Amino acid sequence: MLPPGPKPRLRRLRKSPAIRALVRETALTPGDLIWPVFVMEGTDAEEPVASMPGVVRRTVNRVAQAAKEAEALGIPAICIFPYTALEARTEDCAMAWDPDNIANRAIRAVKDAAPDIAVMTDIALDPYNINGHDGFVRDGEILNDETVEALVKMALVQAECGADILGPSDMMDGRVAAIRHALEDAGHQKVSILSYTAKYASAFYGPFRDAVGASGALTGDKNTYQMDPANSDEAMRLVARDLAEGADMVMVKPGMPYLDICRRVKDAFGVPTFAYQVSGEYAMLKAAAANGWLDGDKVMMESLIAFKRAGCDGILTYFAPEAARALGA
Ligand code: PBG
Repeated sequence: MLPPGPKPRLRRLRKSPAIRALVRETALTPGDLIWPVFVMEGTDAEEPVASMPGVVRRTVNRVAQAAKEAEALGIPAICIFPYTALEARTEDCAMAWDPDNIANRAIRAVKDAAPDIAVMTDIALDPYNINGHDGFVRDGEILNDETVEALVKMALVQAECGADILGPSDMMDGRVAAIRHALEDAGHQKVSILSYTAKYASAFYGPFRDAVGASGALTGDKNTYQMDPANSDEAMRLVARDLAEGADMVMVKPGMPYLDICRRVKDAFGVPTFAYQVSGEYAMLKAAAANGWLDGDKVMMESLIAFKRAGCDGILTYFAPEAARALGA
């Protein structure tokens, strides 16, 4: 629709900060952010992740401190990812459903320290798998149904530890239904599922695999279970399937190269839709900013508002605390 008058002067509404504020279509607030944090063994320490400037791995007590920081900044949720030593990984991935594994200890510590922060988890076997894959591997094949049984065990233990939001990130078929049924049967009706629904086989996960120590472990690629970056209709089928199976919220991952998918999902389904601005996206912006090639603060905010404009309700982002601070929290 063109504005009335002799000339369509659309610049009239860009004239001043006040007018621009009045007609702004979307907003970003700290309440839109989920902060992914990496937890490692040890006591009261943290260490940098080389390929993700500003991101650290923290011991359990420091993750609890981070949760308090999130609370003070108005960030409603944190998502916990474990760093596991290569020698601790096995073919049977038994550590994945050990209530005392590092991720589960971190869930309990966060619920103790900051009970109002929602704790999100990651459900996939890769941090515990000698092969680095999200599922069990037999004769070079990533097994689906056997993996789903293991994911259910992981999910139940995480719920038992106090997780609020479970994040199956494995891309096995049928896992959302299996997890939902098991949660209901175990009395965890209030635990929600944010499914990594449209998760692409992406090279943008590279720095994350460094952060969790998986780079050396992975044999082959994840192309038989994660999505082909060329596909869009397939994402719609996956969303329909995950919602039918009981997912409360869905995710598109990576984020910025897949904003078209975010928009399609939101328009077609109108359900709570999240994007994961993944490690490689973060690393790109940080690296360019460190070189003085981009204004780091500005591209951070521009990249985040883009998710809201594309229809996302929230964003998982390593920028969460920095962005919340920039928003004046
Ligand atoms: C593993 C998992 C990955 C990420 C989140 N969960 C990596 C992968 O699938 O290989 C990537 C996150 C990021 O790159 O920031 N299940």
